[in-house]
Amino acid sequence: RKRIAVLTSGGDSQGMNAVVRAVIRTTISRGCEPYVIYEGYEGLLKGGDYIKRMYWDDVRGWLALGGTLIGTARCAEFKERAGRLRAAKNLVQAGIDAIIVCGGDGSLTGADVFRAEWPELLKELVNSKQIQPKDAENYKNLNICGVVGSIDNDMSSTDATIGAYSSLDRICEAVDYIDATAQSHSRAFVIEVMGRNCGWLALMAAIATGADYLFIPEKAPNAKEFGDKMCKIVARHRENGKRKTIVIVSEGAIDSDLKPVTANMVKDILVERLGLDTRVTTLGHVQRGGPAVAFDRLLATLQGVEAVDAILSLTPETASPLIALNENKICRKPLVDSVKMTKSVAEAINNKEFAKAMSLRDPEFIE
Ligand code: F6P
Repeated sequence: RKRIAVLTSGGDSQGMNAVVRAVIRTTISRGCEPYVIYEGYEGLLKGGDYIKRMYWDDVRGWLALGGTLIGTARCAEFKERAGRLRAAKNLVQAGIDAIIVCGGDGSLTGADVFRAEWPELLKELVNSKQIQPKDAENYKNLNICGVVGSIDNDMSSTDATIGAYSSLDRICEAVDYIDATAQSHSRAFVIEVMGRNCGWLALMAAIATGADYLFIPEKAPNAKEFGDKMCKIVARHRENGKRKTIVIVSEGAIDSDLKPVTANMVKDILVERLGLDTRVTTLGHVQRGGPAVAFDRLLATLQGVEAVDAILSLTPETASPLIALNENKICRKPLVDSVKMTKSVAEAINNKEFAKAMSLRDPEFIE
């Protein structure tokens, strides 16, 4: 009977509880023993009570709940080899055969490093007599599987990360609320949304709310003409009789010199050049709150089931999988490639040549 543990790591996202529920119930259905690791990698480093056996009824009512009931953390110690050594010892001592990590790109990068180092970590634990040689033999392959939980939708190789659509829904709802007051006062609002280096949330929210303009990391505005295009478009909308102006700024937005584009910078331009009465709203962690929308509940459930099945069909030769969604199908991708691709996209965005090239590209996102 295999022992399969699940943990959630990094920023929480709606749908993480649904993943845990699906993993636990599928593990039981497949005749194995489910475990949770509380507080993400931090719990793995602490071991003991942080690794707990779970049963079918323990996850009753978890499907729709936002956040993560087993806790999460951004764990700096797991980034160090000494931390990962402790984690390896705790896993072997708890007799865990496999872990399913639900988190964003940072958490899955950590999982991949851990998997790659595993044989070396075991050797070191045996040499320092922290575990028995027979334990090292029993646990010689770390079975690991990634499920992407993040509101940012920033993982290459999957079309949607768990939580992204719930967060998008929260943003659209908030922008709709702001619309009413903007319209009443004939004001402009600059709304900052999350997403780290990825403009997906901002772009989708801008389309879904009919915003006037947006700034995202993937299409840096030309630093020398900063604000010109926005002002041209906003002025035209106003001339056409629009009483409200909504500009969405992704928190990671940059200009072609890679300088951050902040909501306050954008506000100052709207005030100084167009004379608009302008307010800034930073949506913040509201975007990570509330229940999971139906899409995230489905995605989390289907991917949770697939993660357990992927673990059970792993051979020592198979690469650690990441559970993805491609063209509406749940599929398995090599974790290591997905992590590498995600990193290279982030590097490209933060490259001056790329930013300059994108700043010259037409057409405007929102005309
Ligand atoms: O990765 C998810 C995310 O919400 C990002 O969009 C945001 O930049 C970050 O986490 C905020 O992190 P924290 O919750 O640690 O402030």
